[in-house]
Amino acid sequence: MLSKLNLKVPLIIASGPGGFGEYAKIDGFPWKYVGAYTLKTVTYNKKSGNVPPRMYARDGYMINRIGLENPGIDQFLDALENGEYEFLFKKTNVILSLGGDNYQEYIEVTKKVKPYLHKFIAVEYNFSCPNVSKGGLSMVTDLIEWQSLLVEIRKELPDTFLIAKLGIEGGFIENLVEKAAQSGWNGVTVINTIRGLMFNDDGEILLGGLSGPNLLPIAERAVYEVRKKLSDIYIISSGGVYKEEDAKQLLKVGADAVSIGSAIFQDEQIISRIGKYILENLKK
Ligand SMILES: Cc1cc2nc3c(=O)[nH]c(=O)nc-3n(C[C@H](O)[C@H](O)[C@H](O)COP(=O)(O)O)c2cc1C
Repeated sequence: MLSKLNLKVPLIIASGPGGFGEYAKIDGFPWKYVGAYTLKTVTYNKKSGNVPPRMYARDGYMINRIGLENPGIDQFLDALENGEYEFLFKKTNVILSLGGDNYQEYIEVTKKVKPYLHKFIAVEYNFSCPNVSKGGLSMVTDLIEWQSLLVEIRKELPDTFLIAKLGIEGGFIENLVEKAAQSGWNGVTVINTIRGLMFNDDGEILLGGLSGPNLLPIAERAVYEVRKKLSDIYIISSGGVYKEEDAKQLLKVGADAVSIGSAIFQDEQIISRIGKYILENLKK
């Protein structure tokens, strides 16, 4: 079983901010430094997402409440079959991100993507999706059920590079990662957004996910704890990377690859600065 993703640069576009490959249409996008591009999470059913405002930015952080907007698995696979994402496959490696509202939906999306897996270098499962059958808590809060889901997905996709994307809410992340490793999963992405709160223009309270620079030390700690416990699992860091130094620290505490999310909104050339830095320092 593969234990590493062989990327030309261990820099990955995180699921969400890059949509379904929108950046592939931007002239001058620094593809040279993109090891892989993760698509936005696709769920079993189509999701229209939340009404605006969907993003809120402050010094040091962002809150998003996109609400997992996506076309749903059937429409996504139709588009894939019709070649709508070919422009992206020509540019770089692509990671598919899957999610669901409950156990059965995770299994159903898994079965549906089987004929298309040759197009992707890995499948990342977003386990921070609210489990609608359990009052909105993520799948990982019921550890026994979650591990049986991990085992069932691995049985369905015996040869796929499987990545569990885990947030810090719902359990000690290093223990969750251990369950993923025991279930034969190859890698983990840590962390996801953390639940936060914002106000709209009328002063009403809206809930969303926190991302951006303030996530960095939390992501670093999560990567560090996971690496301490498991030396072999492939770790993709997610959270707070905006500068070369951020990537350096994450690699130092044990990440195999660094993903970039919110920073891409600020300036897509951040990718080339960080990618160049990683390449130069890996060579040393
Ligand atoms: C606008 C937006 C949309 C996101 N959508 C997804 C998603 O669909 N699936 C997912 O796993 N993570 C999603 N995320 C989380 C990011 O992939 C990333 O884990 C998180 O933002 C932390 O990294 P950052 O600080 O570099 O943004 C989203 C984040 C943002 C800001």
